[in-house]
Amino acid sequence: MKIVFSLGGSMMCPDDIDDNYIDKFSRFLEEISKHAKIYVVVGGGKTARKYVDVARKFKAGEFFCDIIGIYATRLNACLLISSLNSDHSYPPFESIEDASNSNEKIVIMGGTHPMHTTDGVAAMLAENVKADLFVNLTNVDYVYDKDPGKYNDAKTYEKLSYDDLIKILNNSEMIASANNIMDLVAAKTIKRSSIKTLILNGKDFENLKSAINGKKFKGTVIG
Ligand code: UTP
Repeated sequence: MKIVFSLGGSMMCPDDIDDNYIDKFSRFLEEISKHAKIYVVVGGGKTARKYVDVARKFKAGEFFCDIIGIYATRLNACLLISSLNSDHSYPPFESIEDASNSNEKIVIMGGTHPMHTTDGVAAMLAENVKADLFVNLTNVDYVYDKDPGKYNDAKTYEKLSYDDLIKILNNSEMIASANNIMDLVAAKTIKRSSIKTLILNGKDFENLKSAINGKKFKGTVIG
């Protein structure tokens, strides 16, 4: 079984680096990698936002801001690699092709090119390796129709079609470090290759285990 995770940078680095979470996530990866081939694409989190905000103050263009964001994702990917007990190779892979060809049991990478986020990278990686499952780990429990942090009446979705997900995301902006549940490139990729996709909170490892074992779980199924 092949599983591709998109690990939102907000999990690894919400305000500051969450070393406790990184440690737990690595132990979880080591456990599940006994029975599955694992790929993890790591997001940039606050690190990306902080650097991009300063670069924007200096009038950096959006393309350059994306490049800065990509470096932040790779920096976080380095931290995840450093927390794995095995003699894991580094630096993180920089292309989907190289990650796809890796023989490692746990393959780790960050971003690749401007104009999408690590969700897009993870979905394309899932497409390329013909993953059985694409799991998007975020800091919220479900996909909502609007930001649950801002609106009390935000509606949760337990199941969404690819097209409905795309409709929800179409209202969001494509600028460096925009905070969306998944990017459009990812949504279009999972649609065109009918990739089974789960979106759930990355903090609850028991729930996550249920999800990848096909049991009932808290989160949104896309497909
Ligand atoms: P993230 O994947 O972390 O984006 O990449 P995000 O969705 O804004 O944040 P979280 O972590 O999921 O909350 C950070 C930024 O790096 C650039 C984009 O600007 C993105 O917003 N990036 C990342 C790219 O341009 N290409 C990539 O392949 C990855």
